[in-house]
Amino acid sequence: MADKYERIMELAKRRGFIWPSAEIYGGVRGFIDFGPLGTVLKHNIEEKWRRFFIHRHSDFIVEIETPIIMPAKVFEASGHLKHFTDYIVECTSCHRKFRADHLVASSTDIVEVESLSIEDLNRIIKDREVRCPECGGILDEVKTFNLLFKTTIGPYSENVGYSRPEAAQGMFLAFKRVYESMRSKLPLGIAQIGRVMRNEISPRQGPIRLREFTIMEIELFFDPEQSSCPLFDNVKNISLSIIPEDKVRKGLLKPISITAKKAVEEGYIVNEWQAYFMVLGKIFMESLGIPSEMQIFIDKPREERAHYSAQTFDQVVKLERWGYVEVAGYSYRTDYDLSRHMKFSGVNLRVYRQLDKKILKEKVTVKPNMKILGPKFKSKVRELLTSLNYESLASELLSKGFVEVAGYKLSKDDFIISREKLEVGGIHFLPHVVEPSFGSDRVTYTVLEYAFHEKDGRIILKLPRDIAPIQVSVFPLVSKDGLPELATKIYRLLLEAGLRVEYDESGSIGRRYVRADEIGVPIAVTVDYDSLRDGSVTLRDRDTWRQVRIKISDLKERLLKYFEGSLCFEELGTPFKGR
Ligand code: GLY
Repeated sequence: MADKYERIMELAKRRGFIWPSAEIYGGVRGFIDFGPLGTVLKHNIEEKWRRFFIHRHSDFIVEIETPIIMPAKVFEASGHLKHFTDYIVECTSCHRKFRADHLVASSTDIVEVESLSIEDLNRIIKDREVRCPECGGILDEVKTFNLLFKTTIGPYSENVGYSRPEAAQGMFLAFKRVYESMRSKLPLGIAQIGRVMRNEISPRQGPIRLREFTIMEIELFFDPEQSSCPLFDNVKNISLSIIPEDKVRKGLLKPISITAKKAVEEGYIVNEWQAYFMVLGKIFMESLGIPSEMQIFIDKPREERAHYSAQTFDQVVKLERWGYVEVAGYSYRTDYDLSRHMKFSGVNLRVYRQLDKKILKEKVTVKPNMKILGPKFKSKVRELLTSLNYESLASELLSKGFVEVAGYKLSKDDFIISREKLEVGGIHFLPHVVEPSFGSDRVTYTVLEYAFHEKDGRIILKLPRDIAPIQVSVFPLVSKDGLPELATKIYRLLLEAGLRVEYDESGSIGRRYVRADEIGVPIAVTVDYDSLRDGSVTLRDRDTWRQVRIKISDLKERLLKYFEGSLCFEELGTPFKGR
């Protein structure tokens, strides 16, 4: 029998949720299309995320939209050009390429492969005689492969750009502008929902590992000297299932249940902001139908973390085919990104904090010593001086004793360095960042898997009522005798009320219930002969198949309350024995 993933994908393709992209050309791994129902479901999840994470914090979290393609300099600064790599291995016979760590995991009993170095992978492949899974050929040496998609910007082929692998960099580049437009206050959250691209080596997990996908991300900027989260009290007693870093390293994958407050106090979670978003993430996933006992937060060991992270928790959810799969990551990115962009752009990204009382601070001023630089560089001196990064000049000269610019090495003696003690009322600093980041496509698939139920050989997609792509089906019992006309009127009434409604009069009523259940329509409205006489209709609940009778005049108002969550199904009408 097909496994659950195959059964879900059969439904997803047949009813228009998800299918492989470019299917008529045989498809390309790592790309999927969302069909009519899948698109609405995904957008509903994103809209819910937007309400949950942004709108309810609208006093300090704002949303922006920035481009997918960015100049190479951005990713040089962010470290992605150097560090955003995976290990690749090629078969010397058929020349197929594989992700080396995944190949080792699937060909040996080694489970923890993420932390393996290139040397480890080469040794294991040799010692364990790992061969090409496609043709049995001998594998070549493992190499590194950068996952950024490369392109050129405009007609000049030397103007290299890359597709963003995360939305985050757009938020870091826009930080100063957003900060100033938000009255220069911290904490400040900048959020973005948008497409990102990663040129994965050999994605084989359908909607779980994609080369192009949507990310829902917040960069929360805060003052590292004032790192408490003002909303932490609201969540501090909520428990999280976490696996701390030392246990992950030892392969002890049994989570501990700990309140957010204790997890911060005992140092498992690095600060309150990180814990705050983890709790929110758990509640958010629960609201999408993923029980909390199926969610774990795994502290990624240092060697497995992204280059920018001082702590990352992966929020993982159990899926039938793939085991625990990451749906969100929570990273403490410190001031890494802002400091790198400040260094590479030469633009001061620091913010100002007023102090309670004045302090004495040493101010270091560095000026080019023209008496030395002039004769040394003659006509080149002007170009040299404009190329200097004045933001990092003093700190580089003081720490290293020299700076490199335009291929020349300038020493301390090429500058006049003066120091003076000043009384200052404030300090300039770089904010630190905590980042919750969700993969919307993975979340959508996860929601489908948890909603997928089978009863008496039928599929029932028990989607939460607020995200179901279609909320109400309207059916005339038969397609004659004035029933379609009344049903159409009801259909229009509910559409105008803002509900997502479908109308269906083809086939038996039983078949229509089956069709509605398998795409997760929470309520079916059936118009029958009695409706013409008594102005009532039958409502049927997707999950229990129970029925109630309700006056058409009450329908709109009560259904709106039901979808807001303030009425349960039984409160919609009077019990009715189904036909
Ligand atoms: N910004 C999160 C990630 O790159 O996964």
